[in-house]
Amino acid sequence: MMIIGKGRAPGKVILFGEHAVVYGRPALAAPVTQVAAEAVVAQGPRGAGLTVWAEDLGRQVAVRDASPDDPLAAAARLTLAHLGLAEPDWRVTVRSTIPIASGMGSGAAVSAAIIRALADATNTQYPIPHLSLSPDAVSALVYEVEKLHHGAPSGVDNTVIAYEQPVYFVRGQPPQPFAIGRPFMLAIADSGIASPTRITVGEVRRAWEQAPARFEALFDRIAAIVEAARSAIAAGEPEDLGALMDQNHALLQEIGVSCAELDALATAARAAGALGAKLSGGGRGGNLIALVGPKTMDPVVTALRKAGALSVITTQVGA
Ligand code: PMV
Repeated sequence: MMIIGKGRAPGKVILFGEHAVVYGRPALAAPVTQVAAEAVVAQGPRGAGLTVWAEDLGRQVAVRDASPDDPLAAAARLTLAHLGLAEPDWRVTVRSTIPIASGMGSGAAVSAAIIRALADATNTQYPIPHLSLSPDAVSALVYEVEKLHHGAPSGVDNTVIAYEQPVYFVRGQPPQPFAIGRPFMLAIADSGIASPTRITVGEVRRAWEQAPARFEALFDRIAAIVEAARSAIAAGEPEDLGALMDQNHALLQEIGVSCAELDALATAARAAGALGAKLSGGGRGGNLIALVGPKTMDPVVTALRKAGALSVITTQVGA
């Protein structure tokens, strides 16, 4: 089978600012390149149209027959429309090593990989001037797909995945890739609890409606932590992030999006020497991130596994 196009996209973590970012406050997010979604395009049988085969999900989708809210078909359809292309007879195969439904952006990365692979195949198959989708274009297309299952996402996930670098993100503003003064290491522990972001975002919305002043004040405190974290990262003082992570986690507990399992992981990581720990993403499950140094990495990973993490990924943020 001859490959005529390829696309790839990394996983991501939200470092600081989840939930508050939905209410206009800033967030910091970074790609996680150890895990990725990869898509390849091959010619299919004549007349068969465009199909997407998601190996890990065991799903094959014929784009022309799929329902409008099918995310795999939507990623393909939106890309064809963006490129001004009639439906080709291509078969897209997508694989991902990003844990599903754990807050690492697997859905957004799968969409981005499909979009990039289709753009790449268009370049190899059609005699048009070389076309490359800008990060902004990829981000906007992924956002359209994300809306199908998240309602009204802030846009932070698609942005960091499309830019493939750490970003300071404020809803509705151009994303700002930010400088990392000195790289730092994170342990990312999967609680194993699938927790759809749509649900926690909806619950926060209802709680905010009941007590707007209280929630606005919590979001302001999170925004101040995000600004302090951005300065510490830019200044090459990542050790300062530990205390900021602990404070951000405490505020997320007050907002109501932590859970006993995530709190137990945070306590275990800190006890094993992590400089700080917080939930990352929608909460109530999904991931916990812990700031580790070269000496504390192994003990923290072991402690997280013992405390119930399904898997633990370590990643370096920054070059
Ligand atoms: O669960 P994740 O990693 O997709 O993160 C969602 C982040 C929220 O701030 C909770 C929602 C959003 O749309 O930004």
